[in-house]
Amino acid sequence: MDNSINYKKLDQIIQNTAFAIEDGKKEIFEISEQIRHEYISYEQELITVKAQISITINEVDKLQIRSQMAKNMIKTINEHFDEFTENDIKEAYELSQKVQVQLSFKTQEEKELIERRNKLERMLRNSMEVLKKAEVLEMKVSVALEYLTGNVMEQIKEKKDVGLKIIEAQEKEKKRISRDIHDGPAQSLANVIYKAEYASKVIDSSPNKAKKEISYLQDDVRNILKDIRKIIYDLMPMSLDDLGLVPTVKKMVSNIMDTTKIQVDLKVHQDSVVENSLVNLMAFRVIQESFNNIVKHSECKKVLFTIEINPNTIELDIIDNGKGFDVMEVMENANGYGLYNMKERIDLVNGLFKISSEPKKGTHIRVSIPNM
Ligand SMILES: Nc1ncnc2c1ncn2[C@@H]1O[C@H](COP(=O)(O)OP(=O)(O)OP(=O)(O)O)[C@@H](O)[C@H]1O
Ligand SMILES: [Mg+2]
Repeated sequence: MDNSINYKKLDQIIQNTAFAIEDGKKEIFEISEQIRHEYISYEQELITVKAQISITINEVDKLQIRSQMAKNMIKTINEHFDEFTENDIKEAYELSQKVQVQLSFKTQEEKELIERRNKLERMLRNSMEVLKKAEVLEMKVSVALEYLTGNVMEQIKEKKDVGLKIIEAQEKEKKRISRDIHDGPAQSLANVIYKAEYASKVIDSSPNKAKKEISYLQDDVRNILKDIRKIIYDLMPMSLDDLGLVPTVKKMVSNIMDTTKIQVDLKVHQDSVVENSLVNLMAFRVIQESFNNIVKHSECKKVLFTIEINPNTIELDIIDNGKGFDVMEVMENANGYGLYNMKERIDLVNGLFKISSEPKKGTHIRVSIPNM
């Protein structure tokens, strides 16, 4: 399965997302502007409606009085029927009816105005709520946008840089391997061919010379095999998967003590095993690079090396008594990839990497890798 992240594509996706959010932000702003306008027009209408209601209530009150008066008039007419002409009676009834109709119109108008007022007040309340929500949303979207365009982009850029550095480190490693093969076994094999040709030329005339040459050849081929084995071992120690971390490390340490003057004091505390082969490899690579640096740079005599394999973590502690170096300066300016690679690999699995060193005082590396 390909677990690699296509940063260019991710970058594009984030940019598109940021554009979409930006559009959304504009839309939210337009919607809240529209609601703000509606709110203002509702507010103005409410003022008018309230004024109309107060006028209408006044008119209804007056009409009610007039209606009562008309009813009283009719009552008086009924009680003193003889004292009124037929026309008086007709007029009184007509007036009462007219006032009644006006009253019922005005009452209906008042009812409608009050309904409109209540509706407007409800709409104003709702608009206010929506406006508040829109404001909060606008703020949240702005924060998201800022995060996306600022923070995440920066992180992506950082990841890109890390990716590039890892590629550079891999390329450097390939170059080193090709140089090791070129300067070592390839050159020695060319020499072997030359020696074999010479032996075959002199085999008839000076069989003893040829014999001697062939015995040199055997030594050469043995050495070439040793070189090739070392290159293969550096690339991927076979024993790591078969025997496990500790025996492989022990072998590496005894190899260092055989080929250099460095004394390594190895202590192992093992409460658990490393089951994940990638974790195994990562721990080994960290140890390997630490010792590469010790052999290559430290000029030390002694190394104290502790490995602890716990159920949850693998702890490494590597102290040399060599010449030390300025960590800050090297981390900022170094051309080497060893320490950088170590740190990045450990970061990737959320492990801890600490290196302390001072010129003339030796170097101390502490590593904790989750035992997944
Ligand atoms: N144990 C050590 N003692 C003294 N100096 C050290 C030690 N480890 C690292 N350094 C210094 O830190 C530098 C950076 O180390 P790093 O492993 O990153 O690069 P390198 O070993 O120079 O090259 P590379 O590992 O890519 O082959 C070294 O060049 C060396 O100066
Ligand atoms: Mg190195």
